[in-house]
Amino acid sequence: MRVLGIETSCDETAAAVVLDGRVALSDVVSTQMDIHRRWGGVVPELASRNHVVQVLPVIHEALSRAQVTLADLDGLAVTSGPGLQGALLVGLQVAKSLALATGLPLVGVNHLEGHLLAIRLAADAPEPPFLGLCVSGGHTTLYDVKAYGTYARLGTTRDDAAGEAFDKVARLLGLPYPGGLPIDTLAQTGDPAAIKFPRALRSDDVLDWSFSGLKTAVLTWVQQHGVPTGQALSDLCASFQEAVADALTRKMVLGARRVGAKTLVLCGGVAANSRLRALAEARGRDAGLEVFLPPKRLCTDNGAMIAVAGFQALARGVPKGSNLTADPTWRLGGVVTHG
Ligand code: KG4
Ligand code: ZN
Repeated sequence: MRVLGIETSCDETAAAVVLDGRVALSDVVSTQMDIHRRWGGVVPELASRNHVVQVLPVIHEALSRAQVTLADLDGLAVTSGPGLQGALLVGLQVAKSLALATGLPLVGVNHLEGHLLAIRLAADAPEPPFLGLCVSGGHTTLYDVKAYGTYARLGTTRDDAAGEAFDKVARLLGLPYPGGLPIDTLAQTGDPAAIKFPRALRSDDVLDWSFSGLKTAVLTWVQQHGVPTGQALSDLCASFQEAVADALTRKMVLGARRVGAKTLVLCGGVAANSRLRALAEARGRDAGLEVFLPPKRLCTDNGAMIAVAGFQALARGVPKGSNLTADPTWRLGGVVTHG
């Protein structure tokens, strides 16, 4: 079964053709990073306008690289939430038009379900059940992935998402947007124990996170010492990154113990972070968990992960969505019923 996945929820216009929910025949991503960089974050109106420009060429390229036409497809999947309303509407409108023109079944996919199932595109992909830690620019949530389409939220951030914290701290330090990779790179040569940054919500009874206090602690440090350069900058980046990775992996292991999970999957843009990956592997192994880390290109937004989730939804007969609408705040959790 060949499914075309379309993703326009934030600042990437992406489309991919995926075979049987496992093999990406193509995976085309057009990023708007350069457009938003000068504003230090995603500007919703600019995102929508650029999706309008990019969406058809990107879909065309995805079909062409997969060496298929619309007639060779068996289904369509599109991100219908959560995300920026105007941005989501672009993908939805195109997907609905394609469904109408071709008669292909169309399903709306939750962006976070896409992230959680992106691991299915890796060679040694685990099947649910697994514990999925989804860490991106907009979300930081621990899910019990019980089966395809059945997700329970175990813990989430009470304020900033982890990626948002990376981006805001990077901005404070004069580093480019998005800030995750520059901080990760500088941290390679820094001392993670140089500055003792706080860890919030330390109680074992709580599986939630809070990153706003950490962000304020970095701000206070910068106000007291000035924006660091050279080794001091690397040390600050490493210390900040350590605080984030430590908090994320501690709750991940606690969550696994709570639900008796045996397998852990990291996903979302921040799952590309080298320290988070290393610590998740080490702490997961110590806790007797099998840890799966998607290749870095599958961590950030792409159309293939939407096609995988769409394939699973079509396979289990989720209602098709001719009257799909954007759901900017769609929360994943409980049984997924959106068509
Ligand atoms: O999943 P994603 O591409 O988009 C959202 O759905 O938000 O995640 C983007 C986020 C950004 O905040 C970016 O700074 C972060 O992922 N990120 C990283 C790294 N690469 C990307 N954060 C930490 N370390 C990285 N290496
Ligand atoms: Zn994402």
